[in-house]
Amino acid sequence: MTEERTRLLSDGTRIPLLGLGVWQVPNGKTTVDAVRWALELGYRHIDTAQAYGNEESVGQALHESGVPREEIYVTTKFLPSAKDPVAELEHSLKRLGVDQVDLYLVHWPKGGPLRAWPGMEKAKERGLTTSVGVSNFSAADLDKVMDSAVIPPVVNQVQFSAVEYRRRLLARADELAIALEAYSPLGTGRHLTDARVAAIAERTGHTPAQVLIRWCLQHGLPVIPKSTHRERIAENADVFDFTLSDADMAELDALDRTGGSDRAVEGKWW
Ligand code: A2P
Repeated sequence: MTEERTRLLSDGTRIPLLGLGVWQVPNGKTTVDAVRWALELGYRHIDTAQAYGNEESVGQALHESGVPREEIYVTTKFLPSAKDPVAELEHSLKRLGVDQVDLYLVHWPKGGPLRAWPGMEKAKERGLTTSVGVSNFSAADLDKVMDSAVIPPVVNQVQFSAVEYRRRLLARADELAIALEAYSPLGTGRHLTDARVAAIAERTGHTPAQVLIRWCLQHGLPVIPKSTHRERIAENADVFDFTLSDADMAELDALDRTGGSDRAVEGKWW
């Protein structure tokens, strides 16, 4: 993974800008195939979570791929309805068949933004994860965790796309040296049919998915599109050899429907 295709995090590590997300991919063959294809096609970053229930299949694909462990960036997330981030990560490591993950995130701020953090710090201190971060945290949540943390979070993974362009959340994360990472960059598929995205795709000779992923990259964000189809997994990775113009970027920026929010979600599910 070349330097231009990674982002430096505040703890000195690097995260590959493009990863495969496996949210809502069932454990078993579907996950094994998706991860195996991604690794065959050059992805070196896989994003799973305890809540997804597919860590075993991710682990199986990692091992069967033959790609050395140290070349693959693996993220999992603490299910915050559980008690102890350390104990839960130990279970994750067994399911994944690895000694440590690269990034461990608090999946959402259940019980408040500080509830899980001391346990996350412990997980890092014990060497079970290289980096620690959060997910679905608002700007206010980030401020709180930064105020109390001994080890600061390096990533906040949130729903982020041209249509959910959370400018104020991004600005605050930048000020705090926390990298925003974009999940659902395609709006779980919904934004692919947006006429304005389609027009830019047509004009630039790329697909709507590539345009939406490229928009994240040009904002400097690691991004984890999900697909279970080999040809789409390939298409989504073919985003490093073109540049959206300033005008195209501005047009995409204007698709935002969050009002430039500093929140991570419009409706809390916790
Ligand atoms: P599938 O998994 O059946 O390929 P997001 O990353 O925003 O969550 O979006 C994921 C959704 O978008 C999934 O339903 C996925 O379908 C679909 N998808 C992913 N990549 C592409 C693509 N290149 N073209 C069309 N649909 C895609």
